[in-house]
Amino acid sequence: MGTFYLTTPIYYVNARPHLGHACTTIMADAMCRYRRLAGDRVYFLTGTDEHGERIAQVAAQAGKSPQAYADEIAAVFRETWQRLGITNDDFIRTTEPRHRKVVQEVLQRLYDAGEIYFGEYGGWYCYGCERFYTEKEIVDGKCPDHQTALTFIKEKNYFFKMSKYQDWLIKHLEDNPGFIQPDRYRNEVLGFLREPLQDLSISRPTSRLEWGIPLPFDDKYVTYVWFDALLNYYSAVTDEANPKTRGLWEHVEHLIGKDILKPHGVYWPTMLKAAGIPLYRRLNVHGYWSLGGSKMSKSVGNVVEAFQLTDKYGHDAFRYFLLREMNFGLDASFSEEALVDRLNADLANDLGNLVSRATTLIAAAGPVAQVTAPGEAADRHIATFAANARAAVEQAMQTFEFQKALGAIWTFIGTVNRYVDASAPWALAKDPAKRPRLERVLCTLADALGFLGIVLDPFLPDAARKIREAIGQSATPTLEAAVVGRLTSVPRVRKVSGLFPRIDTKEREAPTALSPQGRGQGEGLKGEGPKGEGAAKIPITDFQKVDLRVAEVLAAEKVAKSKKLLKLTIRVGEETRTLVAGVAEHYEPGALVGRKVVIVANLEPATLMGVESNGMVLAASQEGTVSLLTLDKDVPSGAQVK
Ligand code: MSP
Repeated sequence: MGTFYLTTPIYYVNARPHLGHACTTIMADAMCRYRRLAGDRVYFLTGTDEHGERIAQVAAQAGKSPQAYADEIAAVFRETWQRLGITNDDFIRTTEPRHRKVVQEVLQRLYDAGEIYFGEYGGWYCYGCERFYTEKEIVDGKCPDHQTALTFIKEKNYFFKMSKYQDWLIKHLEDNPGFIQPDRYRNEVLGFLREPLQDLSISRPTSRLEWGIPLPFDDKYVTYVWFDALLNYYSAVTDEANPKTRGLWEHVEHLIGKDILKPHGVYWPTMLKAAGIPLYRRLNVHGYWSLGGSKMSKSVGNVVEAFQLTDKYGHDAFRYFLLREMNFGLDASFSEEALVDRLNADLANDLGNLVSRATTLIAAAGPVAQVTAPGEAADRHIATFAANARAAVEQAMQTFEFQKALGAIWTFIGTVNRYVDASAPWALAKDPAKRPRLERVLCTLADALGFLGIVLDPFLPDAARKIREAIGQSATPTLEAAVVGRLTSVPRVRKVSGLFPRIDTKEREAPTALSPQGRGQGEGLKGEGPKGEGAAKIPITDFQKVDLRVAEVLAAEKVAKSKKLLKLTIRVGEETRTLVAGVAEHYEPGALVGRKVVIVANLEPATLMGVESNGMVLAASQEGTVSLLTLDKDVPSGAQVK
């Protein structure tokens, strides 16, 4: 049995948990569940980073004390992880006394050892990142991360002699290739180290910032937020009186996003080295999620709150998407459409159908105490594929390659689905002479379900539990038991249908037509041919109910998270209103401003992706070409069209 201590970054409490935070926490959770399944002693830490200027600023804006503000948001993080079924063993907050005590001890130790000195420094500072930038890092005079202007600050501070560890760190990275993984990030750190390493300013004067841990040797200063934050990983497990955390430190591995590589790849190992604390085992770095191609960030305001989508599609589906869609270490792009596509194809179709078919067939035939017919080549094939899938999962999980692990499991699911098709148990059931073969097929299927109930556990914990329950397995699953080919009976099985209900994409597409309100517009946009011929004739009085008007487009912008929708601000005579049009794939927002279009003005309002639409823009469409109805002579907006 190994020991595994895994940490996530501790998240800033200046924003509520969003998709990015959820991604790291879910990856860490999947890894910890996997290691528990494999029989390891596991300790999983997450928490919140609560000091520093950013938090003091947002608290002040909210009219609260930093502590009250931190309490509030830390509670939201804690609850979010609970609701998402995250299995963290501890949740550390940097405002807790247990943490403050360790930070002060380490600072004192470094100070006494001459690793910290008092000096003056002038440099370009980003308040968002809470750090100084070197000339090389600055892009167009701005912070490369926030794209905001930097401030030149000159002040006396305490410095950690980080520069003296430069050669040591280079050698350590060269001698220990797996210390930072994937390799691209190890190379990136080696790249930073090609430039001379500066000493690290580790204090902020209380005259400028009070919200921090006071330096034990000078109370006119508080600790720099990164120096404080990184130590959480250590302070959470150093209480000798706590048996749960004893002996964990030497097994620590960190999981982070690539945005915080430098503090974790450079500051942290040098701090540990200087303080005489054993280094972490490994730093695991994942890429970034973007939304529709742009970086997800609080400052850009396009973050997806972690709950919006889990509430809508379920925790397992959200988890699956995050783990399956991102190649560990590389960036990935998030969209609701892609999530629904994965849900429908992989979860509803491949896995859901298999579980439903297998449990229905087994439940119908009833349990069998002893299967007599020997396995055939097809059954042995399933056993081999299961062994291959397990080996691939074990291999991939060594390096956090969730997407590969899931890919291997889905190859197995595909094989079992084909096995069901080929062995046609419904046909075997019709012929009593084929009963022994039917029993063997059902035994293989039950065996495959048992296997899936185990290997899916880290990734889809709810679905895996449902599968295990359906086949009567109530014991805690273990990876060791994930073997197909040993079962000789068919258990009593409860039918499971709708493990992952399919999301009707028609429904999802409807609002992306030119306007949501009318029926049939979705089809119209897809260019399914003229409707006129088939449409019923109507009296003119019906047509007169439709109030068609000329409208002028005053402003146009894309609707967040939608590929197809534009939000238009239009003037209809004296009135200004908002309308949502499904033309984003055909018109650039800017190209519409100032144009006159024709709208249905008397439609009931509808809300689309959170935006209220009052009316519908008319457009002709056929075979992918969409053309807005415009006027060939200028008439004022508000003019009636008839
Ligand atoms: N408080 C620091 C970390 C201190 S650790 C000693 C911090 N906090 S944060 O709230 O900004 O969280 C950053 C982390 O959130 C990233 O490293 C990553 O784990 C996660 N993510 C935030 N946005 C993300 C994406 N768009 N995509 C993927 N992960 C992202 O930095």
